[in-house]
Amino acid sequence: MLVRSDLNVPLEEGRIADETRIQASLPTLRLLLERGARAVTVCSHLGRPKGEDSALSLEPVEDRLRELLPDDRLQVLENTRFNPGETKNDPAFARELADDNDLFVQDAFGSVHRAHASTVGVAELLPAYAGLLLERELDELGKLLGVVERPFVLISGGAKVDDKLGVLQNLGGKADAVLVGGKMAEQIRSENPLSFEVVLPVDVVAASEFAEDAETKVVPYGSLPEGWLGLDIGPETRELFAQHIAKARTIFWNGPMGVFEWSPFAEGTKAVAQAVAASDGYSVVGGADSARALTELGLADKVSWVSTGGGAALELLEGKDLPGVSVIPAAP
Ligand code: 3PG
Repeated sequence: MLVRSDLNVPLEEGRIADETRIQASLPTLRLLLERGARAVTVCSHLGRPKGEDSALSLEPVEDRLRELLPDDRLQVLENTRFNPGETKNDPAFARELADDNDLFVQDAFGSVHRAHASTVGVAELLPAYAGLLLERELDELGKLLGVVERPFVLISGGAKVDDKLGVLQNLGGKADAVLVGGKMAEQIRSENPLSFEVVLPVDVVAASEFAEDAETKVVPYGSLPEGWLGLDIGPETRELFAQHIAKARTIFWNGPMGVFEWSPFAEGTKAVAQAVAASDGYSVVGGADSARALTELGLADKVSWVSTGGGAALELLEGKDLPGVSVIPAAP
């Protein structure tokens, strides 16, 4: 069996900083081993290397995977992106991956928006099936595309504004409230490209410069002093957003409300994480930063689903075709 997992985990000085994706890959691997697979070969990319790069070797991930799943039948290939054929979906590299395997299992939800050799090319050469994580992600995120229980509250933040406007445009129209924080809010204030109203912040935590120890003050939204930056939503906005979230029966949250890695600007993201975790409605959190914020606050198990996909989750919700899914004949 060849399994494509998404083991693209954050590394800090060669250490795995967050192993969510490794843990999420285990059920499929376990099932294959339990059902008598003679050999299970796992492949994944890690980071965006230009050629071979020892800092992006999958070795630490392989070591951790072996600790979690000690079984001699398990083998982990080196970072697929060390081969230049990977991102070009080169048929020769796809053939190399397929050789010696009888079946292909696609379980790398986080990578299915990429048409690469290990996500698409190889699936055209072997009988291909969806893994348990892929199936679950499509199922959970798919619920947001169908009929949802109301009120449906969408919360959007983060810095990658252009990536997210598409999702907002596609889903926002059917939401009862769209709460926008972070850099998104700044862009929407200057020219709202959306065809519906959004709930914008009423106050922001302003910083004298882009630094963790900058001088800070809370100012009304839209009245930043000259040269200052808005790095978090303010206390009144936290309260306002929490009130909307408390009423929701369905929630999708993507993107932090400010520069949450720096404690003076973490309160907005924390307040949203707590409000989402306190909801007994159906709640989905997608994107690496929001997921990390939830994990760091110990709240990851308080939401209905934390997606392992960032870009992939967004593209799915945007209604885009996911090449790594459509290549699988019996995909959910
Ligand atoms: C991710 O981290 O979103 C996935 O692993 C995809 O990584 P990529 O954006 O480098 O293709």
